[in-house]
Amino acid sequence: MTVASPHTDPGGRDLPGADGSPVGEARRRRTFAVISHPDAGKSTLTEALALHAEVISAAGAVHGKGGRRGVTSDWMDMERERGISVTSAVLQFAYRDHVINLLDTPGHGDFSEDTYRVLAAVDAAVMLLDAARGLEPQTLKLFDVCRARGVPVLTFVNKWDRPGREPLELVDEVEQRIGLRPMPITWPVGIAGDFHGLVERADGSMRRFTRAAHGASKAAEEILDPDRAAAEEGVDWQRATEELELLGEIGADFDATDFHAGTATPVMFGAALSNIGVARLLDALVDLAPPPAARPSAAGDPRPLEAPFSGLVFKVQASMDKSHRDRVAFVRVCSGRFERGMVLTHDATRRPFATKYAQAMFGRDRSTIEEAFPGDIVGLVNATALRPGDTLWADEPVTFPAIPSFAPEHFSVARVADASKTKQFRKGIEQLDSEGVIQVLSSDLRGDQAPVLAAVGPLQFEVVAARLGDEFAAPIKLERLDYSLARRTDAAGAEALKGSIGIEVLTRRADGELLALFPHKWRLQAVMQNQSTVLLEPLIAEGATP
Ligand code: G4P
Repeated sequence: MTVASPHTDPGGRDLPGADGSPVGEARRRRTFAVISHPDAGKSTLTEALALHAEVISAAGAVHGKGGRRGVTSDWMDMERERGISVTSAVLQFAYRDHVINLLDTPGHGDFSEDTYRVLAAVDAAVMLLDAARGLEPQTLKLFDVCRARGVPVLTFVNKWDRPGREPLELVDEVEQRIGLRPMPITWPVGIAGDFHGLVERADGSMRRFTRAAHGASKAAEEILDPDRAAAEEGVDWQRATEELELLGEIGADFDATDFHAGTATPVMFGAALSNIGVARLLDALVDLAPPPAARPSAAGDPRPLEAPFSGLVFKVQASMDKSHRDRVAFVRVCSGRFERGMVLTHDATRRPFATKYAQAMFGRDRSTIEEAFPGDIVGLVNATALRPGDTLWADEPVTFPAIPSFAPEHFSVARVADASKTKQFRKGIEQLDSEGVIQVLSSDLRGDQAPVLAAVGPLQFEVVAARLGDEFAAPIKLERLDYSLARRTDAAGAEALKGSIGIEVLTRRADGELLALFPHKWRLQAVMQNQSTVLLEPLIAEGATP
């Protein structure tokens, strides 16, 4: 499959508003990710979004759950078995005269570090809630990640076709538990499970739906003016309008500045499975979500959109398909125009980087990208030198801020099960480290044969073990360590802590940071009290809602 240029439609016709300039193209791009607790409906919503749009390129648009043709990206065997999505992919599609880039995020909180990297590449996130469950643990954790990155969040309350909670209770929960002021854009008419349509808060009209069969096609809908809605919907309409009045009184009106600053969230209701409210969500993304903007460099100067090409590597992924054992770096275009074949500079090494093999996102399908603009994601194949957080640029140097690593909370020593595979084991560990699959810690004492793997969540160990076994033919044995907390220290700190019982200082290979590991917070507190000069800095996302 060859992909049309991003400012033409899949048939090669020019899209209205496309002018081919980085600024003009950036203006009509919306790059976002959906974050949700597993089972809230992320895959279903992704499919429903694609149904409303013309798909330009589909990353891993390959298989669906339950026999549906899917656009999901959970292609790894383990992902299928466990029903989790470990890896990310990108779906690019045209909607109205815009180009939408939807980046997939892992649903499971154990992979929050990966989500954090994806969120470094988006301009907004959709927080998907299950109407019956509201905010769930992983939603909270993922939301913390959005907050840490200052990503504006739109909230979509899904599964309104099933019995669920009161809408006022749900928006209140968003406000109370995550501190985002809810700004409903639509409001349901009829309770969850007996739902007739949505009131458009801006003009009071009602969009009434006839449910579509199980995800098969768009739901039929009609627009009713308020008088007709009042006459035909009776008490349900009255109740919805009363609730909206109540919200008006507490100041829940839409405010773009607060949304973009990440202090307030537009809220919408719907049912992804019946495609209800999905087009409205796309409209809200186009109309309300911010387009790509100049990205600040590490030095604090924003890189103008019209500056020469620059991009941020936010993910490195190897062997996305068993038939392609290569390594792909996912790059978010930050400025300028990307043209396949251009030679870029890899900022970290100052080495040239050729882009002949630029591809639209993968999965089982691969397609060549000829050009891309700010907000788009380019996959660079065989990018062995690139790591998450790296900058690529053309003509004028820029360094984007590194993507910080998360505070690990689980630690295991990895050893190769069969000593004759030591070389493969080392190579595998090195590769998984540079992809950022897990943090690899070492010390002289432990040596190369027994690195300590540090994870945000234990499922990361399973991914490492599976990949070392499958891809590197180096099955491993893991031994859990008793630590649960890491703090950044320095050489003096490492010296001072030497010999302390239950504490170990290790070097993180990826960035050379020294991490002091503690079994629990009481041990840490004791050291902080008794050795107050020892540097013990918290790492990001420590203690994020479990
Ligand atoms: P995830 O990617 O967030 O894990 O969720 P996924 O889309 O797989 O959805 C989880 C389950 O919720 C699926 O049911 C899906 O059909 C259902 N679902 C998603 N959106 C809606 C909705 O708007 N309304 C209703 N009623 N259900 C919804 P399943 O039984 O696990 O799978 P399937 O057999 O239906 O594919």
